[in-house]
This record gives sequence, structure tokens and C-alpha cells, in this order.
Amino acid sequence: MFIVLEGIDGAGKSTQAKLLAEWFENRGYDVVLTKEPTDTPFGKLIRRLVLTGGKEGIIDGGAKISHEAEALLFAADRAEHVDKLIKPSLEAGKVVISDRYFYSSLAYQWARGGLDLEWLIDLNRFAVKPDIVFLLDLPVKESMNRIRSRKVKSEFDKIFELQRRVRENYLKLAEMFPEMKIINAMDDVKTVHNQIIAIIETLLGEK
Ligand code: TYD
Repeated sequence: MFIVLEGIDGAGKSTQAKLLAEWFENRGYDVVLTKEPTDTPFGKLIRRLVLTGGKEGIIDGGAKISHEAEALLFAADRAEHVDKLIKPSLEAGKVVISDRYFYSSLAYQWARGGLDLEWLIDLNRFAVKPDIVFLLDLPVKESMNRIRSRKVKSEFDKIFELQRRVRENYLKLAEMFPEMKIINAMDDVKTVHNQIIAIIETLLGEK
């Protein structure tokens, strides 16, 4: 089973991903908990060139790299992720849980402006389809409050207008991709977890 968690920054994806991994492990499943951008050299390059906003970054430093190049970097990171970890793990019968995936590229790179959604979808054609995608949805104001206490923030985290467009995009994507289920991320951690588990149990019953 391949499960993805999506949502704007501060929606609670990594907390829910961990809880979900524990839930599967307690039931004897072999679980691979992973994320995008990855911790591989590709992911590190993205953090350096796209997300840090430093001298080389595209945000504070002006348009150092194009939005196309940004989308290609995320896609390259994903291609390695799929080939080296996701596919082999699924083939070995493991449960794979990814904190962000293909849908992040659609929601974020589409929100950066000037890019065509169809082009982004085509670019990511190689990405194996998850069984289910939980979209943790909450208002941007709330996510900004949650992020404020974080020590490490990416440049994307700080931009209210970008987050607002990203949230809108996610909700549009949920209408296009039937595997996406919207979860109200305003609820407390346990309630959100229980909502996710209820859907997983139904899926497991069908498998
Ligand atoms: P994030 O989940 O915040 O990672 P971390 O907490 O480890 O820094 O991801 C970093 C940012 O990258 C986030 O703002 C969303 C963005 N992003 C994209 O723009 N496109 C993508 O395809 C992915 C995977 C992430």
C-alpha cells in the first residue's frame, strides 16, 4: 500500500505520517516512512537552490533559477525517490508512507505562476500512483500561526499569498484526482489520526 500526506506547510503532515506509520507497525506491517524533498543529494540541491532564499536562492535573491528549472529539480528528486525507494519497497510488500509527493509539485509549482498544469502532470508521468492521498486542509492563517514556532522555516513557509494559492490549488486538485481525500486539519491530532485510520481500514477491507 502506498499512502501520501499532502497539505500546506504547518498542516500537520509529518506528525500524522509518524502516527500512521506506528499504527501499521503495531499491526505487524513493514513500513517505510519517507518524504519529499528527499534527503538525497537531489533534495539537498533543492533546499540550497530553491528553498533557502540565500545568495543562491530564488526568492530573496531575485529569479536566480526559473520556475521551469525549479519544477524540473523537484521532478528529478522524485524520479530518484520512486526508482530507488518507493517502487522497490512496494514490490517487497511494504507499506510506503510519503510526507509530500507529486501533488506538492502540482499545488506549489502551479502556484508559482507561469507554469501550465498539464506540463507539470506530464513531467511527473513516471510517478507511481498512490492508493490514497490525505489532503490535510486548514486555513492559511492557522497554518501560519503553527509555523511561527518552528526553528527552521523554508522561504515558502513565510509567504502568505503563496500558501493561499497553494491551498486553493490543493482543493482544485482534490476534485481532479479521486485518490485524494480531504481531511479537516483544524481538528486535534488524535481526531485527525482517527479520521485517517477509518479510511485506511475501509481500504484494507477492500484489498
Ligand atoms: P517541507 O515539507 O516543508 O520540508 P521540510 O519541512 O523538510 O523543509 O517541504 C519544503 C517545501 O518544498 C514546501 O514549502 C513545499 C515545497 N515543495 C514544492 O514546492 N514542490 C514539491 O514538489 C515538493 C515535494 C515540495
